[in-house]
Amino acid sequence: MQEAAKSKDSRLVLALDFPFEAGEYREKILVKAQRVLKAVHPYVGAVKINHHLTLPLGTFDGVQMLVEQIRGQGMLAIMDAKVNDIGNTNQVIAEYYFAAGFDAIIANPFVGWDEGLKPLFDVSKRLNRGVILLTYMSHRGASEGYGQTIIDLETCEQIPQYVSFARKALKWGADGVVVGATVPDKIAEVKRILGGKVAIYSPGVGAQGGAVETAIKAGADYLIVGREITNSDDPARAARMLCESIKRI
Ligand code: XMP
Repeated sequence: MQEAAKSKDSRLVLALDFPFEAGEYREKILVKAQRVLKAVHPYVGAVKINHHLTLPLGTFDGVQMLVEQIRGQGMLAIMDAKVNDIGNTNQVIAEYYFAAGFDAIIANPFVGWDEGLKPLFDVSKRLNRGVILLTYMSHRGASEGYGQTIIDLETCEQIPQYVSFARKALKWGADGVVVGATVPDKIAEVKRILGGKVAIYSPGVGAQGGAVETAIKAGADYLIVGREITNSDDPARAARMLCESIKRI
């Protein structure tokens, strides 16, 4: 990711999301996505794809074509699958997305290591791909899970759930964590724990109320932005302005 961000001179990750389309209009989504990628690629280091595109387009049909376009334009492709199942299933999910060309996958540490995320980390290391862990999500209800106080089983201390996840990101060798741009205090706390060894990806700028400046100043390494760009009348301009405002901080 560091290399892609350097070569593009951008710490912006595009969330390639579009609103629901009914049956006969679904084909338009692929064309729209291709058009947005073509317009914004000079200002974006990586592109994040999720169910917004895998459901209407299919992984090995439309999405794989988009991944080829993304990589051909010098960006990385991140699959926001929030992998969250038993180990065997997690491994197969990752194998399919990596076979489609994705460079990294987002997973949920709530499922734990043994028979949980270990098989996914194993396959990612074997194929030289990345794993990014949710640590504190960007929506308000995140406090109910990621923000609750837990008792750490190893140390018996009371800590917030997201602190435990940040420590696990280090221990498990994650390539990144996701902390919402909407919670800059949590970004700063996670940054102190990670000490720059694991990159912080922050979604939630714009439509969800997060701000570029507070997220970056708190320690976010990359900002994930969707609707502010994809819903814009001029996605290239929106991406360029975001990219430049990150650089100015
Ligand atoms: P917007 O339109 O709000 O889109 O800029 C944000 C994108 O990021 C996803 N998202 C998250 N992904 N952890 C994640 O892994 C999060 O905490 C999180 N919050 C938002 C969202 O699905 C959309 O694609």
